[in-house]
Amino acid sequence: MLSSALTRALALFGLIITFLLPTTPADASAPLRQHAAARGKFIGTALATGPLAGETSYRSIAGAEFNQITAENAMKWDATEPSQGQFAFSGADAIVDFAVQNDQQVHGHTLVWHSQTPGWVQSLGAAQMRAAMQNHISRVVGRYADNPAVVSWDVVNEVFDDNGNLRTSFWYNTLGQSYIADAFRAARAADPDARLCINDYNVEGINAKSTAMYNLVATLRQQGVPVDCVGFQGHLAIQYGFPNDLRQNLERFAALGVQVRITELDIRLQTPRDATKDATQATYYRNVVNACLAVTACAGVTIWGFTDRHSWVPDTFPGQGAALIYDENYQKKPSYTAVHDALAGGTTDPTPPTTPGTPAVSGVTATSATLTWAASIDTGGSGLAGYTVYREQGATDPPLAQSTGNTVTLTGLSPNTAYQVYVRARDGAGNQSAASPTASFTTTGGTGTGACTATGTVQTQWNTGYVMQPVTVANTGTSGITGWTVTFTLPAGHTVTGSWNAVLSVSGQNVTARNAGYNGTLAPGASTSFGFQVSRPGGDTRTPGGYDCM
Ligand code: G3I
Repeated sequence: MLSSALTRALALFGLIITFLLPTTPADASAPLRQHAAARGKFIGTALATGPLAGETSYRSIAGAEFNQITAENAMKWDATEPSQGQFAFSGADAIVDFAVQNDQQVHGHTLVWHSQTPGWVQSLGAAQMRAAMQNHISRVVGRYADNPAVVSWDVVNEVFDDNGNLRTSFWYNTLGQSYIADAFRAARAADPDARLCINDYNVEGINAKSTAMYNLVATLRQQGVPVDCVGFQGHLAIQYGFPNDLRQNLERFAALGVQVRITELDIRLQTPRDATKDATQATYYRNVVNACLAVTACAGVTIWGFTDRHSWVPDTFPGQGAALIYDENYQKKPSYTAVHDALAGGTTDPTPPTTPGTPAVSGVTATSATLTWAASIDTGGSGLAGYTVYREQGATDPPLAQSTGNTVTLTGLSPNTAYQVYVRARDGAGNQSAASPTASFTTTGGTGTGACTATGTVQTQWNTGYVMQPVTVANTGTSGITGWTVTFTLPAGHTVTGSWNAVLSVSGQNVTARNAGYNGTLAPGASTSFGFQVSRPGGDTRTPGGYDCM
């Protein structure tokens, strides 16, 4: 046996050699988990117990590629306590045992949810329901409290509806909002060391629902409720656009002092797949991973399954699917490479994004105009970062605006002026695309900032629509107004479905709102408002722009 002094000397020698050797770049063939661990993050997958028991490829990829596991269904209430007091852990244990064998951390999903909860829970009275909830949390969390693999829990899941109001689930209807704080306190009592999360969908970007989540988490933490982490599910679709403010959104939550994580990432498309859709999907995956890498408080990314062979998407969204990073035959897709290269970091991207489409011009006023163009695709590895709009005017073309998405409203333009504009895309490595074809428009001679102004606010929104309320019309002049007309532009694909306090006429995407019989007269300094409701393609969070008042 070596003496301990010799052992220490050899260890020190090894350490010195290690430092003297040149550092080698990340192994391009290394599995995802190795790169993720080197970046201090996890890369995870949801696992289903059926294929875990029956498919060799499923087990071997799940074990080799991921360092974090979430049970897709096996830890939900209907699986773990199908009858009151009758606990069943065979599925949950199979997941945890697999994670232990493969040195993976487990995120428990989920303790309190309105879905996949047996009828017996839903029909209880308030006192019994609260007790059943606390007992369930105590038993399920308690079972794994001493298992070092199980590190975190989704304590409550999807407590908001699509408008960002607290969901009127049986939990809320029976117990009121207090069930949320009670659930967190019960989980803390059952495992003081576990990280406790609140989890939801459609909260990836900054919108009404994510802001409601932000406010709830801030309030709960102010009240001393042990909310440690926020989960952003990440069920995205390439046809609805990427939430370009994901990183910014993660950062605002991180500033509350919580850990953030992407918990259920999948990126569906309209089947069948093709190379273009695969490339767009890969860019989305890359962007999500890069957003998490850029935010210190982001612990990692869990993909909601890894093979298209086993995914919830086609059952729920007929005609859509292919949302994961391996195909049905366990072959890696471009999205796998995107996740891999983002985690590996340091890959050089010499390829600029594709050229944006010709800008379509709408909503031209005296001082503003909205441009929309066909989006670019970046296949080089660093991901699409955004666009710059330039004014073509000679030797040097000044930038007029930047955007992360493929539309922007130019403001501060000069009245009665001809503009030629074009767009270039940028990627994460700073490569610029070629210039799009040029678009021309001439601003109107109206005053724009004259006697009246109009501004619109989104009051509430849901996946496929929103309410603009109030659109405020203010008399900023020095004499009275006896009637007003507001013009504005709807994003492509958006349609007005109702309005109040104004008479609207719509031509294509251009809308003209005239005062109603009772609110046309405005004294200097006075204001009034109107509202309207819009239907939109699911998840398209653009809003009307180019308000002008005359
Ligand atoms: O196990 C039964 C099987 O015995 C039966 O033959 C079959 C017939 O339909 O159903 C099987 O149960 C299905 C279960 O998945 C297991 O495959 C349920 O019908 C089905 O509804 C259930 O869907 C799950 C869904 O949650 C339920 O809400 C999906 O697998 C699961 O991916 C999905 O995950 C949720 C997250 O928990 C929360 N966030 C959204 C996410 C996607 O909906």
